Order: sequence, then C-alpha cells, then structure tokens
Amino acid sequence: MLKRFIFLTVAVLLLALGFVDSATALKLPQEVRTVSLNDTGATTVVTNEQVARGKFLFNDTCSQCHLGGRTKTNPNVGLGLSALQNAYPPRDNIETLVSYLKYPYTYDGEDEITLFHPNTTRSDLWSEMRNYNEEDLRAVSGYILVQANNLGAVWGGGKAVN
Ligand code: HEC
Repeated sequence: MLKRFIFLTVAVLLLALGFVDSATALKLPQEVRTVSLNDTGATTVVTNEQVARGKFLFNDTCSQCHLGGRTKTNPNVGLGLSALQNAYPPRDNIETLVSYLKYPYTYDGEDEITLFHPNTTRSDLWSEMRNYNEEDLRAVSGYILVQANNLGAVWGGGKAVN
C-alpha cells in the first residue's frame, strides 16, 4: 500500500515537472516527424534532435507571441496547418517557413514585414535572431510542422481563416 502510494506520488511529480512530457517529445514516431519539405510535394523526416532543438528555440524566441501555435495579436494568422496552407505562398513546409523567418511577408504575400516580425535579415532590429543559423531555422520550422501533425487542430487553436 505504502509502495503504491510512493509510486503514484513520484509519477505525479514527474508529470508535474514535465519530465514525462519531454521524454515522450524526444521519441515521437517517424510518421509524426514526416513533414513537407517544399512546394513540390517532397517530404522530409525531422529528427528527434531537431524537434528538441526546435522546441527549445520556439520556447525561447517565439512562444511569447505564438503559445500553443496561436498568434496572440492576430488569431487569424496562426501556426496551425490550415492557416499555413492558406497563406500566399503556402507556408506548410520547411523551406517556405525558413524563408519566412529570413524575410517575412503579410499573409497575402503582398508586403514584407521585416520591421514587424522577427527575422534574420534585420537582426540589427531583432537581436534574438542574431544567433540563428540555417540549421536552427530548419529546426524551429520542423518543430512547428511536427506540432501541427502531432496535435492536429489543437496546435494553432483551430482558429484559422479558411
Ligand atoms: C512579437 C511577437 C512575435 C514573435 C516574437 C514571433 N512572431 Fe510569428 N507572428 C507574429 C504575428 C503578429 C504574425 C502575423 C503577421 C501577419 O499579420 O501577417 C506572425 C506570423 C507568423 C507566421 C506566419 C503564419 C501564417 O499562418 O502564415 C509564422 C510562420 C511565424 N509567425 C513564425 C514565428 C516563429 C518561428 C517565431 C520565432 C522565431 C516567431 N514567429 C516569433 C508575431 C510574432
């Protein structure tokens, strides 16, 4: 009886501390980690290490505005798959996400928003992007797409305009 109590307490503590979550997050099945690479229909497998790195970077630089894949100040332009798919050009793949983070555009693709959204081109304005290299940009982009695969409509809050 006491043993069971101790076991439960430890399990609850581990869950509360997020250990179990990060352990499972590091071992996502390949199916969930398979995402679009570009607009030709090619796919790529994001490694567990890239997911972990992407998660770290996302929490560090993006989540203050994009917690849970939502966009705090513009819920219509979230990071869920349907929102990304309906952007122009579609952003539901690694390569367009990476280019967005280098040079972001409005949802309709009409105007560049390097003064308003973090990016590496104007890292003089966005110091948090100064240390991002190409591999970091791919990791954070991969993390967004893996979260969308893994969490479905929960990621981005399902508030996308369609
Ligand atoms: C200061 C707040 C803020 C931060 C920090 C931020 N974003 Fe954004 N993000 C926004 C806003 C606002 C929009 C909507 C822009 C628009 O109106 O087109 C957006 C849009 C996006 C989009 C386009 C989504 C779509 O559906 O087309 C992507 C992708 C994105 N952000 C990724 C990121 C990533 C990755 C990071 C971290 C490196 C990040 N953002 C950091 C505020 C932020």
